[in-house]
Amino acid sequence: PVRPVLLSGGSGTRLWPLSREAYPKQFLPLVGEDTMLQATWARIGPLSGDAPIVVANESHRFLVAEQLRQVGAPVPRILLEPVGRNTAPAIAVAALQALADGGDPLLLVLPSDHVVANVDAFRAAVREASNAANDGALVTFGIVPTAPETGFGYIEADGAGNGVRPVKRFVEKPDAQTAQQYLDAGGYYWNSGMFLFRASRVLEELERYRPDIVAACRAAFDDAKRDGDFVRLDGDAFAACPSDSIDYAVMERTDAAMVLPVDIGWNDVGSWSALWDVTERDADGNAHHGDVIAVDTRNSYAYARRLVALVGVDDLVVVETDDAVLVARKDRVQQVKDVVAQLKAAD
Ligand code: GDD
Ligand code: MG
Repeated sequence: PVRPVLLSGGSGTRLWPLSREAYPKQFLPLVGEDTMLQATWARIGPLSGDAPIVVANESHRFLVAEQLRQVGAPVPRILLEPVGRNTAPAIAVAALQALADGGDPLLLVLPSDHVVANVDAFRAAVREASNAANDGALVTFGIVPTAPETGFGYIEADGAGNGVRPVKRFVEKPDAQTAQQYLDAGGYYWNSGMFLFRASRVLEELERYRPDIVAACRAAFDDAKRDGDFVRLDGDAFAACPSDSIDYAVMERTDAAMVLPVDIGWNDVGSWSALWDVTERDADGNAHHGDVIAVDTRNSYAYARRLVALVGVDDLVVVETDDAVLVARKDRVQQVKDVVAQLKAAD
Protein backbone atom coordinates (compact mmCIF):
# COMPACT_ATOMS: atom_id res chain seq x y z
CA PRO A 1 0.00 0.00 0.00
CA VAL A 2 1.05 3.56 -0.68
CA ARG A 3 0.16 6.95 0.72
CA PRO A 4 -1.08 9.05 -2.22
CA VAL A 5 0.12 12.63 -2.48
CA LEU A 6 -1.90 14.68 -4.94
CA LEU A 7 -0.28 17.85 -6.22
CA SER A 8 -2.91 20.41 -7.03
CA GLY A 9 -1.09 23.70 -7.32
CA GLY A 10 -0.94 24.38 -11.04
CA SER A 11 -2.95 27.05 -12.79
CA GLY A 12 -3.16 25.42 -16.26
CA THR A 13 -2.98 28.70 -18.16
CA ARG A 14 -2.57 27.00 -21.53
CA LEU A 15 -6.14 25.78 -21.25
CA TRP A 16 -7.50 29.31 -21.08
CA PRO A 17 -10.33 30.38 -21.20
CA LEU A 18 -11.64 27.30 -19.44
CA SER A 19 -8.86 26.91 -16.91
CA ARG A 20 -8.53 29.97 -14.68
CA GLU A 21 -6.58 30.81 -11.57
CA ALA A 22 -9.77 30.56 -9.55
CA TYR A 23 -10.74 27.30 -11.22
CA PRO A 24 -7.75 25.52 -12.80
CA LYS A 25 -7.91 22.44 -14.94
CA GLN A 26 -7.56 19.83 -12.18
CA PHE A 27 -11.02 20.83 -10.95
CA LEU A 28 -12.67 20.53 -14.38
CA PRO A 29 -14.22 17.47 -16.06
CA LEU A 30 -12.06 17.84 -19.17
CA VAL A 31 -12.14 14.15 -20.08
CA GLY A 32 -15.16 12.14 -19.01
CA GLU A 33 -17.53 12.86 -16.14
CA ASP A 34 -15.06 13.14 -13.29
CA THR A 35 -12.85 16.13 -12.77
CA MET A 36 -9.15 15.47 -13.28
CA LEU A 37 -8.57 15.48 -9.51
CA GLN A 38 -11.36 12.94 -9.04
CA ALA A 39 -10.01 10.77 -11.84
CA THR A 40 -6.56 10.89 -10.24
CA TRP A 41 -7.98 9.60 -6.98
CA ALA A 42 -10.04 6.90 -8.76
CA ARG A 43 -6.93 5.72 -10.61
CA ILE A 44 -5.15 4.89 -7.37
CA GLY A 45 -7.95 2.55 -6.30
CA PRO A 46 -6.70 -0.46 -4.33
CA LEU A 47 -3.12 0.85 -4.21
CA SER A 48 -4.03 3.30 -1.50
CA GLY A 49 -3.48 2.22 2.06
CA ASP A 50 -4.46 5.52 3.59
CA ALA A 51 -6.27 8.82 3.11
CA PRO A 52 -4.54 10.96 0.51
CA ILE A 53 -2.47 14.02 1.25
CA VAL A 54 -3.43 16.86 -1.07
CA VAL A 55 -1.19 19.90 -1.42
CA ALA A 56 -3.14 22.83 -2.82
CA ASN A 57 -3.49 26.56 -2.78
CA GLU A 58 -5.44 28.05 0.12
CA SER A 59 -8.10 29.42 -2.18
CA HIS A 60 -8.97 25.96 -3.52
CA ARG A 61 -9.56 24.27 -0.16
CA PHE A 62 -13.31 23.76 -0.52
CA LEU A 63 -13.01 22.61 -4.14
CA VAL A 64 -10.54 19.93 -3.12
CA ALA A 65 -12.53 18.76 -0.12
CA GLU A 66 -15.86 18.72 -1.94
CA GLN A 67 -14.62 17.03 -5.10
CA LEU A 68 -12.92 14.22 -3.20
CA ARG A 69 -15.94 13.78 -0.95
CA GLN A 70 -18.12 13.38 -4.05
CA VAL A 71 -16.13 10.35 -5.17
CA GLY A 72 -16.08 8.75 -1.76
CA ALA A 73 -12.41 9.27 -0.93
CA PRO A 74 -11.47 8.94 2.74
CA VAL A 75 -11.21 12.38 4.32
CA PRO A 76 -7.91 13.72 2.96
CA ARG A 77 -5.25 15.73 4.72
CA ILE A 78 -5.22 18.98 2.81
CA LEU A 79 -2.03 20.99 3.13
CA LEU A 80 -2.75 24.59 2.22
CA GLU A 81 -0.13 26.77 0.59
CA PRO A 82 -0.60 30.53 0.93
CA VAL A 83 1.44 30.91 -2.28
CA GLY A 84 2.85 28.44 -4.79
CA ARG A 85 6.52 27.54 -4.33
CA ASN A 86 6.61 24.79 -6.96
CA THR A 87 6.83 21.06 -6.39
CA ALA A 88 9.93 20.66 -4.18
CA PRO A 89 8.34 22.48 -1.21
CA ALA A 90 4.95 20.86 -1.89
CA ILE A 91 6.52 17.40 -1.74
CA ALA A 92 8.61 18.35 1.30
CA VAL A 93 5.57 19.34 3.38
CA ALA A 94 3.69 16.23 2.21
CA ALA A 95 6.61 14.07 3.39
CA LEU A 96 6.66 15.87 6.74
CA GLN A 97 2.92 15.24 7.13
CA ALA A 98 3.28 11.56 6.25
CA LEU A 99 6.06 11.11 8.84
CA ALA A 100 4.03 13.02 11.43
CA ASP A 101 1.12 10.63 10.83
CA GLY A 102 3.41 7.74 11.77
CA GLY A 103 5.74 5.27 10.06
CA ASP A 104 7.66 5.94 6.89
CA PRO A 105 5.21 5.17 4.09
CA LEU A 106 5.82 4.94 0.38
CA LEU A 107 4.54 8.17 -1.12
CA LEU A 108 2.92 7.96 -4.53
CA VAL A 109 3.20 11.53 -5.77
CA LEU A 110 0.77 12.31 -8.56
CA PRO A 111 -0.02 15.51 -10.44
CA SER A 112 -3.78 15.94 -10.22
CA ASP A 113 -4.16 17.13 -13.81
CA HIS A 114 -2.91 14.26 -15.96
CA VAL A 115 -4.74 11.63 -18.02
CA VAL A 116 -3.86 7.94 -17.72
CA ALA A 117 -5.92 5.85 -20.14
CA ASN A 118 -4.73 2.43 -18.96
CA VAL A 119 -5.44 2.29 -15.26
CA ASP A 120 -4.52 -1.40 -14.87
CA ALA A 121 -1.10 -0.84 -16.41
CA PHE A 122 -0.63 2.16 -14.14
CA ARG A 123 -1.39 0.13 -11.02
CA ALA A 124 0.83 -2.73 -12.15
CA ALA A 125 3.68 -0.24 -12.66
CA VAL A 126 3.30 1.20 -9.18
CA ARG A 127 3.39 -2.30 -7.71
CA GLU A 128 6.44 -3.15 -9.80
CA ALA A 129 8.26 -0.03 -8.58
CA SER A 130 7.50 -0.65 -4.90
CA ASN A 131 10.49 -2.88 -4.09
CA ALA A 132 13.02 -0.39 -5.41
CA ALA A 133 11.28 2.46 -3.62
CA ASN A 134 11.16 0.48 -0.37
CA ASP A 135 14.90 -0.06 -0.75
CA GLY A 136 15.45 3.69 -0.91
CA ALA A 137 15.24 4.59 -4.59
CA LEU A 138 13.43 7.68 -5.85
CA VAL A 139 11.45 6.08 -8.65
CA THR A 140 9.98 8.00 -11.56
CA PHE A 141 7.78 6.57 -14.27
CA GLY A 142 9.21 7.08 -17.76
CA ILE A 143 7.20 7.74 -20.90
CA VAL A 144 8.50 6.82 -24.38
CA PRO A 145 8.97 10.22 -26.05
CA THR A 146 7.23 10.94 -29.33
CA ALA A 147 8.45 14.48 -30.08
CA PRO A 148 11.25 16.82 -28.95
CA GLU A 149 9.03 18.55 -26.40
CA THR A 150 10.87 21.13 -24.31
CA GLY A 151 8.41 21.17 -21.41
CA PHE A 152 9.41 17.79 -20.00
CA GLY A 153 12.24 16.23 -18.04
CA TYR A 154 14.33 13.73 -20.03
CA ILE A 155 15.70 10.60 -18.42
CA GLU A 156 18.51 8.47 -19.75
CA ALA A 157 18.10 4.97 -18.36
CA ASP A 158 21.16 2.95 -17.39
CA GLY A 159 21.16 -0.39 -19.16
CA ALA A 160 18.54 -2.13 -21.27
CA GLY A 161 15.40 -4.04 -20.40
CA ASN A 162 11.92 -3.12 -19.32
CA GLY A 163 12.11 -3.08 -15.56
CA VAL A 164 13.16 -0.55 -12.94
CA ARG A 165 16.60 0.79 -13.88
CA PRO A 166 18.99 3.35 -12.47
CA VAL A 167 18.87 6.80 -13.98
CA LYS A 168 22.09 7.68 -15.76
CA ARG A 169 21.08 11.26 -16.40
CA PHE A 170 18.06 13.43 -15.74
CA VAL A 171 17.78 16.69 -17.66
CA GLU A 172 14.84 18.94 -16.88
CA LYS A 173 13.39 20.93 -19.79
CA PRO A 174 16.25 20.79 -22.32
CA ASP A 175 16.22 23.12 -25.33
CA ALA A 176 14.69 21.84 -28.57
CA GLN A 177 18.01 20.88 -30.14
CA THR A 178 19.09 18.86 -27.10
CA ALA A 179 15.68 17.19 -26.91
CA GLN A 180 16.00 16.18 -30.56
CA GLN A 181 19.46 14.68 -29.86
CA TYR A 182 17.95 12.59 -27.06
CA LEU A 183 15.22 11.32 -29.37
CA ASP A 184 17.77 10.45 -32.05
CA ALA A 185 20.04 8.70 -29.56
CA GLY A 186 17.24 6.55 -28.10
CA GLY A 187 17.15 5.17 -24.57
CA TYR A 188 15.61 8.37 -23.19
CA TYR A 189 12.25 8.74 -21.51
CA TRP A 190 10.09 11.68 -20.55
CA ASN A 191 9.65 12.14 -16.85
CA SER A 192 5.93 11.66 -16.20
CA GLY A 193 6.10 13.77 -13.04
CA MET A 194 4.74 10.83 -11.04
CA PHE A 195 7.05 9.54 -8.32
CA LEU A 196 7.28 6.74 -5.79
CA PHE A 197 9.63 7.01 -2.79
CA ARG A 198 9.71 6.67 0.95
CA ALA A 199 8.88 9.86 2.81
CA SER A 200 12.18 9.82 4.71
CA ARG A 201 14.22 9.27 1.54
CA VAL A 202 12.88 12.21 -0.42
CA LEU A 203 13.43 14.41 2.63
CA GLU A 204 17.00 13.14 2.98
CA GLU A 205 17.78 13.91 -0.63
CA LEU A 206 16.10 17.32 -0.41
CA GLU A 207 18.08 18.03 2.73
CA ARG A 208 21.29 17.08 0.94
CA TYR A 209 20.74 19.35 -2.07
CA ARG A 210 18.35 22.03 -0.80
CA PRO A 211 18.61 22.36 2.99
CA ASP A 212 17.21 25.88 2.61
CA ILE A 213 13.95 24.50 1.21
CA VAL A 214 13.66 21.83 3.90
CA ALA A 215 14.33 24.36 6.67
CA ALA A 216 11.64 26.74 5.38
CA CYS A 217 9.18 23.87 4.93
CA ARG A 218 9.82 22.53 8.43
CA ALA A 219 9.15 25.99 9.87
CA ALA A 220 5.96 26.36 7.81
CA PHE A 221 4.81 22.89 8.83
CA ASP A 222 5.69 23.17 12.53
CA ASP A 223 3.85 26.50 12.81
CA ALA A 224 0.90 25.38 10.71
CA LYS A 225 -2.63 25.99 11.95
CA ARG A 226 -4.57 22.76 11.98
CA ASP A 227 -8.26 23.20 11.52
CA GLY A 228 -10.31 20.07 10.81
CA ASP A 229 -8.90 18.39 7.71
CA PHE A 230 -6.99 21.48 6.72
CA VAL A 231 -3.37 22.15 7.58
CA ARG A 232 -2.66 25.81 6.96
CA LEU A 233 1.08 26.16 6.45
CA ASP A 234 2.50 29.17 8.20
CA GLY A 235 2.21 32.03 5.73
CA ASP A 236 5.44 33.90 6.45
CA ALA A 237 7.60 30.79 6.69
CA PHE A 238 6.22 29.28 3.48
CA ALA A 239 6.40 32.54 1.58
CA ALA A 240 10.08 32.73 2.58
CA CYS A 241 10.73 29.31 1.05
CA PRO A 242 12.71 29.35 -2.21
CA SER A 243 10.71 28.22 -5.24
CA ASP A 244 11.97 25.17 -7.12
CA SER A 245 10.68 22.00 -8.74
CA ILE A 246 11.56 18.55 -7.43
CA ASP A 247 13.07 17.89 -10.84
CA TYR A 248 15.74 20.59 -10.57
CA ALA A 249 16.10 20.37 -6.80
CA VAL A 250 16.56 16.61 -6.53
CA MET A 251 15.99 14.47 -9.61
CA GLU A 252 18.76 16.06 -11.69
CA ARG A 253 21.27 15.62 -8.88
CA THR A 254 20.51 12.54 -6.82
CA ASP A 255 22.29 9.19 -7.22
CA ALA A 256 19.20 7.39 -5.95
CA ALA A 257 16.94 8.03 -8.96
CA MET A 258 15.52 5.06 -10.83
CA VAL A 259 13.11 4.91 -13.74
CA LEU A 260 10.42 2.43 -14.66
CA PRO A 261 9.41 2.81 -18.32
CA VAL A 262 5.62 2.58 -18.61
CA ASP A 263 3.03 2.35 -21.37
CA ILE A 264 -0.10 3.58 -19.64
CA GLY A 265 -1.72 6.03 -22.05
CA TRP A 266 -0.23 8.99 -20.21
CA ASN A 267 -0.91 12.57 -21.27
CA ASP A 268 -0.32 15.70 -19.22
CA VAL A 269 -3.01 17.58 -21.14
CA GLY A 270 -0.79 20.61 -21.40
CA SER A 271 -2.69 22.27 -24.24
CA TRP A 272 -5.92 22.25 -26.24
CA SER A 273 -4.34 20.04 -28.90
CA ALA A 274 -3.37 17.54 -26.18
CA LEU A 275 -6.97 17.53 -25.02
CA TRP A 276 -8.08 16.88 -28.60
CA ASP A 277 -5.59 13.99 -28.59
CA VAL A 278 -7.08 12.29 -25.54
CA THR A 279 -10.74 12.91 -26.34
CA GLU A 280 -12.75 10.42 -28.36
CA ARG A 281 -13.07 11.64 -31.96
CA ASP A 282 -15.63 11.02 -34.68
CA ALA A 283 -14.90 9.72 -38.18
CA ASP A 284 -13.84 13.20 -39.31
CA GLY A 285 -11.38 13.50 -36.45
CA ASN A 286 -13.47 16.01 -34.53
CA ALA A 287 -13.66 15.99 -30.75
CA HIS A 288 -16.43 17.87 -28.99
CA HIS A 289 -17.49 18.76 -25.52
CA GLY A 290 -21.00 20.11 -25.21
CA ASP A 291 -23.44 21.16 -27.89
CA VAL A 292 -21.54 21.27 -31.18
CA ILE A 293 -22.59 20.91 -34.81
CA ALA A 294 -19.80 20.34 -37.32
CA VAL A 295 -20.39 20.49 -41.07
CA ASP A 296 -17.60 19.66 -43.50
CA THR A 297 -15.10 20.09 -40.68
CA ARG A 298 -12.08 17.96 -39.83
CA ASN A 299 -9.65 17.38 -36.95
CA SER A 300 -11.08 20.15 -34.84
CA TYR A 301 -11.81 20.51 -31.16
CA ALA A 302 -14.77 22.47 -29.83
CA TYR A 303 -15.76 23.10 -26.22
CA ALA A 304 -19.20 24.63 -25.97
CA ARG A 305 -21.39 25.90 -23.19
CA ARG A 306 -23.85 27.38 -25.68
CA LEU A 307 -24.44 25.91 -29.12
CA VAL A 308 -21.36 26.14 -31.35
CA ALA A 309 -21.40 25.38 -35.07
CA LEU A 310 -18.34 24.83 -37.25
CA VAL A 311 -18.62 24.95 -41.03
CA GLY A 312 -15.88 24.12 -43.51
CA VAL A 313 -12.92 24.47 -41.16
CA ASP A 314 -10.01 22.12 -40.42
CA ASP A 315 -7.56 21.83 -37.51
CA LEU A 316 -9.27 24.46 -35.42
CA VAL A 317 -9.80 24.84 -31.69
CA VAL A 318 -12.89 26.72 -30.53
CA VAL A 319 -13.58 27.16 -26.83
CA GLU A 320 -16.63 29.04 -25.71
CA THR A 321 -17.27 29.92 -22.08
CA ASP A 322 -19.55 32.37 -20.28
CA ASP A 323 -17.16 35.29 -20.60
CA ALA A 324 -14.64 34.47 -23.33
CA VAL A 325 -14.22 32.79 -26.72
CA LEU A 326 -11.00 31.29 -28.04
CA VAL A 327 -10.48 30.54 -31.73
CA ALA A 328 -7.04 29.14 -32.57
CA ARG A 329 -5.27 27.04 -35.14
CA LYS A 330 -4.64 23.68 -33.53
CA ASP A 331 -0.90 23.88 -34.23
CA ARG A 332 -0.65 27.26 -32.51
CA VAL A 333 -2.34 26.50 -29.20
CA GLN A 334 0.91 26.84 -27.23
CA GLN A 335 0.53 30.58 -27.75
CA VAL A 336 -2.62 30.67 -25.67
CA LYS A 337 -0.28 31.42 -22.79
CA ASP A 338 0.55 34.71 -24.53
CA VAL A 339 -3.11 35.66 -24.27
CA VAL A 340 -3.03 35.01 -20.55
CA ALA A 341 0.18 37.04 -20.26
CA GLN A 342 -1.47 39.98 -22.03
CA LEU A 343 -4.51 39.75 -19.78
CA LYS A 344 -2.26 39.71 -16.71
CA ALA A 345 -0.27 42.70 -17.95
CA ALA A 346 -3.49 44.63 -18.50
CA ASP A 347 -4.73 43.84 -14.98
N1 GDD B 1 0.75 22.02 -4.49
C1 GDD B 1 1.46 22.49 -5.50
N2 GDD B 1 2.15 23.65 -5.34
N3 GDD B 1 1.45 21.82 -6.66
C2 GDD B 1 2.16 22.33 -7.68
C3 GDD B 1 2.91 23.53 -7.57
C4 GDD B 1 2.90 24.21 -6.32
O1 GDD B 1 3.51 25.27 -6.13
N4 GDD B 1 3.50 23.77 -8.77
C5 GDD B 1 3.12 22.77 -9.58
N5 GDD B 1 2.31 21.90 -8.94
C6 GDD B 1 1.67 20.69 -9.47
C7 GDD B 1 0.90 20.99 -10.74
O2 GDD B 1 -0.47 21.19 -10.46
C8 GDD B 1 1.10 19.72 -11.53
O3 GDD B 1 0.08 18.80 -11.19
C9 GDD B 1 2.44 19.17 -11.06
O4 GDD B 1 2.68 19.79 -9.80
C10 GDD B 1 3.61 19.46 -12.00
O5 GDD B 1 3.73 20.86 -12.15
P1 GDD B 1 3.85 21.55 -13.57
O6 GDD B 1 3.97 23.00 -13.38
O7 GDD B 1 2.78 21.03 -14.48
O8 GDD B 1 5.29 20.98 -14.03
P2 GDD B 1 5.83 20.91 -15.51
O9 GDD B 1 4.78 20.45 -16.43
O10 GDD B 1 6.51 22.19 -15.82
O11 GDD B 1 6.97 19.77 -15.41
C11 GDD B 1 6.81 18.58 -14.66
O12 GDD B 1 5.93 17.67 -15.29
C12 GDD B 1 6.38 17.12 -16.55
C13 GDD B 1 5.38 16.10 -17.01
O13 GDD B 1 4.12 16.67 -17.16
C14 GDD B 1 8.20 17.98 -14.47
O14 GDD B 1 8.13 16.99 -13.51
C15 GDD B 1 8.76 17.43 -15.78
O15 GDD B 1 10.01 16.78 -15.56
C16 GDD B 1 7.77 16.45 -16.37
O16 GDD B 1 8.26 15.95 -17.61
MG1 MG C 1 2.78 20.16 -16.37
